[in-house]
Amino acid sequence: MNENQAGRVVILGTGGTIAGRATQANDNVGYVAGQVTVGDLVAMVPALATCALDVEQVAQINSKDMVLGVWQSLVRRVAAHLDRPEVAGIVITHGTDTIEETAFLLQSLLMPAKPVVLTCAMRPATALVPDGPQNLSDAVAVALHPHACGVVVVCAGRIHGAMDVSKVHPYRMDPFDSGDAGALGCVEEAQLRMFRPWPPSVSQTTHDAVRMQRLQGAAAWPRVELVFSHAGADGEVVRALLEQASARAGPLRGIVVAGTGNGTVHEDLLVALKEAQARGVHVVVASRCGQGRIVPHAGQPLPDSAGLSPVKARLALALQLLEA
Ligand code: SIN
Repeated sequence: MNENQAGRVVILGTGGTIAGRATQANDNVGYVAGQVTVGDLVAMVPALATCALDVEQVAQINSKDMVLGVWQSLVRRVAAHLDRPEVAGIVITHGTDTIEETAFLLQSLLMPAKPVVLTCAMRPATALVPDGPQNLSDAVAVALHPHACGVVVVCAGRIHGAMDVSKVHPYRMDPFDSGDAGALGCVEEAQLRMFRPWPPSVSQTTHDAVRMQRLQGAAAWPRVELVFSHAGADGEVVRALLEQASARAGPLRGIVVAGTGNGTVHEDLLVALKEAQARGVHVVVASRCGQGRIVPHAGQPLPDSAGLSPVKARLALALQLLEA
């Protein structure tokens, strides 16, 4: 397929629309995600027959239902395969809905020196024109590229970095955007055209090993909730969270608030968030704007997410609390 023919690629399946099945070929929304095995997805791409591949089904879910246990399995399998010298890179088939969270988690934990390429589809495998096979083929081309490293998302011919990518459209075939940073590059006929450097990578650090162990040993995430600031927000959601003593979900440890514009928060919601802080809950503000980042300024009432989107800021805070 491209330069590094000698390398072996591991393809890990987790479900998603790419593995979705509908009862009718013209149904692009009423399908069930996570039905077709990753082995069958690979078989739909004739060009992959000449590649050295290992194929493994790690999960078979709709990614909206992502849970800690699936992430633990995935991180474990990715780390194990990265350690194999003959493996050039890893491809993960995944649903589009939370792919940015999985990509963020993998990059935060592993910063791999080899490429870990998440790919997906917006049309099920049974569609008249499924986009999964081309995306999978492109993802393998990226995984085999001799200079590729870090965690990336490949969809609709574009390569996005894990830290910047967000799903911005619920239906179109190219639903991802990397905001101000822009895509890292593109894949054209199995050739890569790069616009920016690959994501930062390290081989292995003690810090990573500690983070990995904490994740693998966790029975549950530290409880971090996501709330929105909006017209009429009154803070009662935050107070309800503070009052609720749910043994199942564990004590509230953090709140990420998706603030308006440059991270501003309704004054009534801010009062409640300050009450939460006073009770030892970590509060971080991200912007609910789809692009850009909060521009820090003196006197801002809450720490900001350092450019992370609300969902990624939530995961970053949960990871930080897991290590505390
Ligand atoms: C999912 O995220 O698993 C379903 C939606 C999709 O893959 O587009």
